[in-house]
Amino acid sequence: MALFIKAEELEGLISITEAVDAVEKGFASQVDHPIFSLPRQRMLADNRRITVHSGGCVPLGVAGTFVHYERHNYTADDQSYGAVGKRVYVSYDSENGALLAIIAGCPPFYRRQAAEDEFATETAITSAVGTRRMAREDARVLGILGSGRQARRHLEAMCAIRPITEVRVYSRSADNRRAFCEVMQPHVDAELKPVERPEDAARNVDIIVCATGSNFPVVFGRWLEEGVHVTSIVGSNKELLMEGLVSRPRRELDDAVLARADVIVATLVQQGIQDEQGDLLEPVRNGVIAWDDVKDLSALVTGKVRGRGSGRDITLFKQNSDQGVGYMALARLAHDKARAAGIGMEF
Ligand SMILES: NC(=O)c1ccc[n+]([C@@H]2O[C@H](COP(=O)([O-])OP(=O)(O)OC[C@H]3O[C@@H](n4cnc5c(N)ncnc54)[C@H](OP(=O)(O)O)[C@@H]3O)[C@@H](O)[C@H]2O)c1
Repeated sequence: MALFIKAEELEGLISITEAVDAVEKGFASQVDHPIFSLPRQRMLADNRRITVHSGGCVPLGVAGTFVHYERHNYTADDQSYGAVGKRVYVSYDSENGALLAIIAGCPPFYRRQAAEDEFATETAITSAVGTRRMAREDARVLGILGSGRQARRHLEAMCAIRPITEVRVYSRSADNRRAFCEVMQPHVDAELKPVERPEDAARNVDIIVCATGSNFPVVFGRWLEEGVHVTSIVGSNKELLMEGLVSRPRRELDDAVLARADVIVATLVQQGIQDEQGDLLEPVRNGVIAWDDVKDLSALVTGKVRGRGSGRDITLFKQNSDQGVGYMALARLAHDKARAAGIGMEF
């Protein structure tokens, strides 16, 4: 019998670190089964967007698809979500072929999970998989650029994997960054401080998270100090570019960030190539890096590439898109937790 699970029924059942561990196992399996997970596929008509993340993880005995649909808003400067449908996991038992679980919605991993927060809870988990392998163990000061959904989730995820005591938050609106600190302060032990300039969230910090809707760089290489780790999540607008609706690929980092990074890891390099993602493609085109300089998350988590050589290295995780293997690893975890707790409807 398969299970139908409403994601909200999972509240309180899955911790951030359990989710990070599961997603790490998913990516580790990609090394042995690299074509059991396809890069994320998108289909567009103007601002209508279907996205499909398919893949499987043999060690966890799970395979399937995660699908979502939305209408998004875009300007030359930034991109944001408009109408958003409930996201759905369809997962199979990869060994006996049976349907395992259909999960409607994104699992609630976080302490603060308001109704408007129901989508894309997985992104900060994937960011934490890479960051846990790359940031210094003693990282205490976190700078966050952005004050929206992903910024809130990345705050909780980063605080779960490192002993963060101070967080500096920048977004363009003083009201938004102040509200972010007020709303999120009860949910983390670290002290949250709104800052007035983007460089205040990037200089003299141990970890920088870029979680913005920006189309232009928000962090510049000249601001980076030795030992810092940078995570950035903006992906591509290739289809908008193809349709002539915007004029430039999205960027969250300038070329100097990539030039200064001693180690660069992407969730999936092939995704960056397929989507012509500005933060990777433009530095390659500009001769700042080569595609070979960018390593896959699967290689990082299996120790095939080193996360950092020393406490002085600058490291970069371009979390350039969640992948089917990660979603399916989470589906397996959610299914097993739901079974153990007697949650969900058998069908
Ligand atoms: N890599 C992945 O797998 C993945 C998955 C899901 C989403 N994403 C990306 O995550 C990003 C954020 O999504 P979200 O759901 O958090 O959106 P959101 O709730 O709309 O938040 C976007 C935030 O970006 C801030 N912002 C925009 N331009 C900025 C700039 N130039 N400098 C600093 N802050 C800026 C906005 O604050 P102000 O208006 O106050 O500046 C806002 O707080 C999107 O770009 C989305 O494409 C990536």
